[in-house]
Amino acid sequence: MLGSVLLAASRSPRVRRLVSGVPVTRSVVDRFVAGDSRADAIAATKRLAESGLDVTLDHLGEETRDAEAAAATARAYGELLRDLAGLGLGTRAEVSVKLSAVGQALGADGDKIALEHAREICVAAKEAGTTVTLDMEDHTTVDSTLEILHALREDFPDTGVAIQSYLFRSESDCRDLSHAGSRVRLVKGAYAEPASVAYQDKREVDAAYVRCLRILMDGAGYPMIGSHDGRLIAIAGLLARDAGRSRDSWEYQMLYGIRADEQRDLAREGFGMRVYVPYGDDWYGYFMRRLAERPANVGFFLRALVSR
Ligand code: FDA
Repeated sequence: MLGSVLLAASRSPRVRRLVSGVPVTRSVVDRFVAGDSRADAIAATKRLAESGLDVTLDHLGEETRDAEAAAATARAYGELLRDLAGLGLGTRAEVSVKLSAVGQALGADGDKIALEHAREICVAAKEAGTTVTLDMEDHTTVDSTLEILHALREDFPDTGVAIQSYLFRSESDCRDLSHAGSRVRLVKGAYAEPASVAYQDKREVDAAYVRCLRILMDGAGYPMIGSHDGRLIAIAGLLARDAGRSRDSWEYQMLYGIRADEQRDLAREGFGMRVYVPYGDDWYGYFMRRLAERPANVGFFLRALVSR
């Protein structure tokens, strides 16, 4: 219940002004976001890489309605990728992109603009010796995102994509995407979706996650297990073993600031472990989804407020 209220609030400009105006918000946001600047993102990448973790960097922003802002986001990725190249980490530090931040939400020409910007980002990533993964946003964008993915993969076959187990369609999408070389990040899904397209019950979302996991692990692609759920993490390990997969043919992924000890433990055990690191000042939507996933985070936020 609180989760759905927070997800609705994540799209409200009024609540956005209210939450962003509370001075203490920033200290709580910092738990989930590496900082405002590119330098903050690079510093976090170095720190994580030194402790054996791989990284995917997200320049925060979404649902951009302004063509110049979409172009600016693509440029920001280009600058970030040039800095990443200097670290020499190769694919250990890649980028994640929300297509709605680079033009997908711009109306009739949105898909075309998003594809052009995503292509520029893929070119910069290739020059930096690394890869791009497309985030998946609400269900109305899935067809467009997969079309853009397929167009990008003609020139950049290592482009990855996130698939959300809560959507009824995702098992079929996983089947289509489980071919050799295909990088797929499996997540539960973070948006408020209607019962006409998505499982509403947590147990059903988890069961669908396992079905999708099985398809991806048995396939020939490169599964990326995006979850903090201990049970699903263990099942992924067992399915990878049963499928005879080597450790370098799949990886775990978790979000910056969430279950950091488990992230390090998995890396120490020799599993590929990549941390999704968001940075930038447009943190509102991302932050509210993190609160919605775990209402206990709201208590953390409120405690910070009263202890001022
Ligand atoms: P679940 O929500 O059941 O959490 C399991 C446990 O993890 C909790 O009990 C708690 O201990 C911990 N935990 C989870 N969320 C927490 C939080 N916010 N704060 C503190 N602890 C928390 N979604 C999407 O729709 N599109 C996308 O592109 C992506 N991309 C993405 C990348 C990566 C690397 C990850 C890990 C996740 C995403 N997501 C996403 C988000 C995903 O859909 C999902 O909402 C969250 O991962 C939470 O689901 P879990 O699988 O972690 O399970």
